[in-house]
Amino acid sequence: MARILQLTDLHVFSEPGVTLKGIPTRESLNDVVRHILQTEAAFDQVVVTGDHTHDELPASYEAVREILSPFSDRLWQVPGNHDDRSVLRQVFHSKIGGNGSERINFQFTQNNWLCIGLDTHVAGEVSGRIDAAQVDWLKAQLDASDASRVALFFHHPPVAVGSQWMDRIGLDGKELLQQVIEADARIRLVCCGHVHHEFQFQIGAAEVLTTPSTGIQFNPAGDSPNFEAAAAGYRVIEFDGDNYTTSVVRLPQIKYIPELTG
Ligand SMILES: [Fe+2]
Repeated sequence: MARILQLTDLHVFSEPGVTLKGIPTRESLNDVVRHILQTEAAFDQVVVTGDHTHDELPASYEAVREILSPFSDRLWQVPGNHDDRSVLRQVFHSKIGGNGSERINFQFTQNNWLCIGLDTHVAGEVSGRIDAAQVDWLKAQLDASDASRVALFFHHPPVAVGSQWMDRIGLDGKELLQQVIEADARIRLVCCGHVHHEFQFQIGAAEVLTTPSTGIQFNPAGDSPNFEAAAAGYRVIEFDGDNYTTSVVRLPQIKYIPELTG
C-alpha cells in the first residue's frame, strides 16, 4: 500500500492576510497542511498540481516553500496558469531541475505505479496547452517504464468539466492527450486542478478527477466566475497493487466565506 496526497491551486500571495475574493489563501493553505499533519495516516508523496501563487512573486513562492516544508523530502510539482516557471524553479531549486523557463515535468515510481507530472502552463495565458513535444516526452516515459499502472498529474483537465466559464479556459491540445490515455490501458488515474471543484470523468481505462483548492472553491454553475462557500480540501490516493482508491478530504469547517460573485 502506498499513499499520495494531491494539493492544488494554492494561490498564495506575497503578504500574509491578503485575500482572493475574500479567502486568505496563505492562511487556508496553512490550515490544510496543519490538518494533514494532525490527521493523516503516513503518506509517501505529495504532488502539487499548479497555481502555487496568485501573484507569481518570489516572496509568495518562498512562503509556499516554508508552508510545505514538512513535505520537502517527498514533494513533486507542476506549474499552473498562476505560476512563473523561472521563479518556481528558482525557489524550489532543490526539487526542480532544468533551467529558466523550461517546462517542469516530473516522473517517479511508487510501488508498481509510474507517476508522471506534465507541465500545461502557457506564459501569459489562463488556458493551458499540450503540444507534440509534451506528448512525445510522455510517450517516452511510458515506453521506458515497466510499471503495471500509471497515474498522471497536471493542472488543466483534459476534458470539459461542465462549467461554461471554466471550460473557456481549458486545455488546448487535450485531444492529443486523450489519444495517449486511450492507447495505454495502464493509465488508470488522471488528477488535475485548475477548476477548484471536484469533478469526475472517464477516458479509456483512466478515471479523470479534479480536486478542490487549498484556498478558494469555485461553483461550476453559471456563465461567469462563481465562488462557493465550501471548505478547503485536498485529495488522498492509495495504491494497493494494481488497484487504487481515492477520495477528497475537506477541512471539517468552512472557515472563510468568499464573495459569492466575481
Ligand atoms: Fe487555480
